[in-house]
Amino acid sequence: MTARTLDAIPPYVFYELDARRAAARASGKTLIDVGIGSPDGPIPEVVVEAMQRAAADRALSGYPHFRAHPQYAAAVQGYLASRFGVHLDPVQEVLALAGSKEGIAELIQSQVNPGDVVLVPEVYYPVYARAAMLAGAEPVFVPFLADGRLDLEAIDAAHVARAKVMIVNYPGNPTTTAVSLDELARYVAFAERHGVLLLSDLAYSELSFDGFAVPSVLQVPGAHRVAVETHTCSKSFNMAGVRIAFMAGKREAITRLDAYRSNIGYGVSTLAQLAGTAAFLHHATLVPPIVAEYRSRRDAIVAAFRRGGWPVEAPRATMYLWLDVPAGLSDWEWVDTLLRGPGVVVTPGIAFGAAGRGKFRVSLVQAADTLVRAAEGIVAAG
Ligand SMILES: Cc1ncc(COP(=O)(O)O)c(C=O)c1O
Repeated sequence: MTARTLDAIPPYVFYELDARRAAARASGKTLIDVGIGSPDGPIPEVVVEAMQRAAADRALSGYPHFRAHPQYAAAVQGYLASRFGVHLDPVQEVLALAGSKEGIAELIQSQVNPGDVVLVPEVYYPVYARAAMLAGAEPVFVPFLADGRLDLEAIDAAHVARAKVMIVNYPGNPTTTAVSLDELARYVAFAERHGVLLLSDLAYSELSFDGFAVPSVLQVPGAHRVAVETHTCSKSFNMAGVRIAFMAGKREAITRLDAYRSNIGYGVSTLAQLAGTAAFLHHATLVPPIVAEYRSRRDAIVAAFRRGGWPVEAPRATMYLWLDVPAGLSDWEWVDTLLRGPGVVVTPGIAFGAAGRGKFRVSLVQAADTLVRAAEGIVAAG
């Protein structure tokens, strides 16, 4: 019998989406792909230069540091201090990651035993539940309140008692919901009360609009006793292909994560860490133009939907729209309708768990005029 945990996991929905997209392309269809959330913008020049220098540096050819390159740790420390007013020990409380997706899975592996519970938002970035299952743990889904905050009261007490990790993701993919620091404080208090490690996935820390600054859970007083947070260069700096992120917060959790990672691999590529160093050092100048581009895309596509009679709300964070599938169609029927008709690739809500059924996600990863054409096609097909 091959690995039971892997066999028990349903196929990754994005594979199915890839197959349908490939079939549509093979039939000669020209597609507008707003399915996957992979940034289309260029890696910032200052980051490219840092990578070029690192690649040519003879002294950097050996294995990387296990935890973090000192320059990367210092840049992360500076970023957390200037952006959030959070002051952490760069050696004990920061760990470089080859992407936050991997880091989240590794954190779960380093925390849970078979039979434990991982509390996951009911609509979620897939790795949360899948990593729990790969570790033999049970993902238990926490429902949302009407405004998208977590309904902590609704969690079964028996599940809370077995929970080792609770994951929160604000601003959320795919929901786009953002919350205040007070709300994050509520999650910290819950985690502390129940002896659960709180994992905040802050992948969209910088992608917010209209004067809203995304808070970090580490800003909550005492959070470092119960929480860790992942940050990534993937979205904030168009660096998804570089694979550089970090985990910061509770010291013991960082130590365990380091222990897990160092048993199965080496530290994160030095090239990637020095690229991340440049990004975080220059975050104050690199982020605004990227956000401005997403904002104009958001405004253009929201206006196009509204012109077509779809009452779409403009999200105040992330690079997505999270919309309702027209009545009478299943998620996959709607995906196929859009592929065959206007040739628009969207992600079915079911990709983000059963509670995502009846919704679909549009990623703002095309130029504004292309997004307007996508919206017009969607409206016409709906
Ligand atoms: C909520 C969330 N977390 C993590 C990730 C993955 O980020 P990384 O590229 O750092 O692995 C994504 C990517 O879409 C995401 O949406």
